[in-house]
Amino acid sequence: MSSPSTMKINGREIEFHKGKTILEVCRENDITVPTLCHDDRLKPYGGCRLCIVEIQGVPRPLASCTTPAEAGMEVTTETPRLTRLRKTVLELLLSNHPNDCMCCEAAGNCGLQTLAYQYGARLDKYPGEQWQLPIRQDNPFITYEPNKCIVCGRCTRICNEVVMAGTISITNRGFEVMPDTAFGKPRSLLNCEFCGQCVSACPTGALTDRKGRGLGRSADVKKVKTTCTYCGTGCNFFLNVKDDRVIRVTSDLSAPVNKGNLCIKGRYGYDFIHHEDRITTPLIKDGDGFREASWDEALELVASKFNSLIAEHGPEKVGGFSSSRCTNEENYLLAKWVRCAVGSNNVDNCARV
Ligand code: FES
Repeated sequence: MSSPSTMKINGREIEFHKGKTILEVCRENDITVPTLCHDDRLKPYGGCRLCIVEIQGVPRPLASCTTPAEAGMEVTTETPRLTRLRKTVLELLLSNHPNDCMCCEAAGNCGLQTLAYQYGARLDKYPGEQWQLPIRQDNPFITYEPNKCIVCGRCTRICNEVVMAGTISITNRGFEVMPDTAFGKPRSLLNCEFCGQCVSACPTGALTDRKGRGLGRSADVKKVKTTCTYCGTGCNFFLNVKDDRVIRVTSDLSAPVNKGNLCIKGRYGYDFIHHEDRITTPLIKDGDGFREASWDEALELVASKFNSLIAEHGPEKVGGFSSSRCTNEENYLLAKWVRCAVGSNNVDNCARV
């Protein structure tokens, strides 16, 4: 790697490597810069203009998310002029926003709400025409409230750049501009994968998870980090738990394996956790049916059956097949049990081929 260059941010001498944007250098050095259209998973966009900074020798503020950091630059991230401009941008966004935070699904987890509060943006600074569009619930997983969209493009960009499905893009022009499917068709009629990536990228309440609507907002839930059990990739996410029930799955953007990205199963396939048909006690075959048993009784029965099988046919007739849905530790334990307790080397895993 080439030797680092230096620049000054807010009077601090900072080292950085070529190829970074000013925003990236700021964030690596714990310097807060407000953003709405930026998402670490996406290419820089420069749409919202909240991330503007002053650069010495440059007459107008520039978006830090799209401006490359250069050696010798002197950048300031907070000035009265920047505060005034950011507040104006926020007030323009609020001028066409329902401002119904009291009942909004995203309240407490909304970038627009947080920054409007931080900058003291007024709701009525620029009164004018507002969108009055219906809420769209034309699929089982995602609710779209176009009135709450700030056209940051994060949903369409993640659908195109990361998922590569291209289900939604920015449609129309001028006041009518909004993310939508081709000809406004329901997502279920198009190639939507229902991965919920667009929901995870939305900084407002425009796109929300339909299954968890009304069950609790971000401040009401405990977030439990876990690993998805649907395949061997090992994606991480947060189970959002309220009153001992999982009401939603949200992205963990710091997850090393998936960086917040999930598929439909990981994000929406959590109903089984509390499903009433779920088997919660061991069942022992009894005639044509099954009867409930204790774990001790079930494990003793299985052990005795294995013992008689091994005594009759030898340990090499026993093998263990494990699954990539299990954890590494579980797979290791199965292999150890087959090799050490049974005395066989017949061990395999569905992920081997
Ligand atoms: Fe830079 Fe939106 S974050 S313009």
